[in-house]
Amino acid sequence: MSVTVEEIIRPMTEKDLEAVLALEACGHVSPWSEAMFREELANPVARIDLLWRGSDLAGFLCAWRVSDELSILSVVTAPLMRRTGVARRLLMQALERNGRSGMVRALLEVRSSNCGAIALYASLGFRQVSRRRGYYQDGEDALVMELRYQHCASSGC
Ligand SMILES: CC(C)(COP(=O)(O)OP(=O)(O)OC[C@H]1O[C@@H](n2cnc3c(N)ncnc32)[C@H](O)[C@@H]1OP(=O)(O)O)[C@@H](O)C(=O)NCCC(=O)NCCS
Repeated sequence: MSVTVEEIIRPMTEKDLEAVLALEACGHVSPWSEAMFREELANPVARIDLLWRGSDLAGFLCAWRVSDELSILSVVTAPLMRRTGVARRLLMQALERNGRSGMVRALLEVRSSNCGAIALYASLGFRQVSRRRGYYQDGEDALVMELRYQHCASSGC
């Protein structure tokens, strides 16, 4: 018998800091600090969405909306919940929500070696538009990927 776990997406608040920091620590080589998350929480153009499965934080997405452009800053899924559609759902929800209010394009940077993330973004319609050589502190290149509004993979965009 399978048990259905409730899944919700809601904006992050200060109360979620501990859970988000724990998830961030297993997501990146150079994780964001608590101060950086607090800065994002206070930033009027930033929004951090959390996807909860029951009482477990499954993933989060941080994005900035400036004028008609959405910048995706970070997407992280809990290691045990990867490849179960968490990041796709977070991205699609953000793209749909912003698409309804006039977004023209979404942009992001991704490490050139991060094949999983690149495949995820490509599956949603993002295309590489440039490469920033030596962009990261360890010297790795960043790929800049863009999704034009009319190319959005989701029907709501
Ligand atoms: C990249 C990351 C966010 C993907 O999250 P996820 O929740 O596992 O992704 P989803 O389950 O929504 O995957 C959707 C699609 O993306 C692609 N994809 C995701 N991870 C992949 C991987 N490791 N290898 C190949 N394709 C991958 C697939 O097309 C997948 O669809 P499928 O499972 O039906 O084949 C996750 O691996 C992660 O948190 N990595 C560490 C942090 C990071 O690198 N973030 C991105 C840069 S900020």
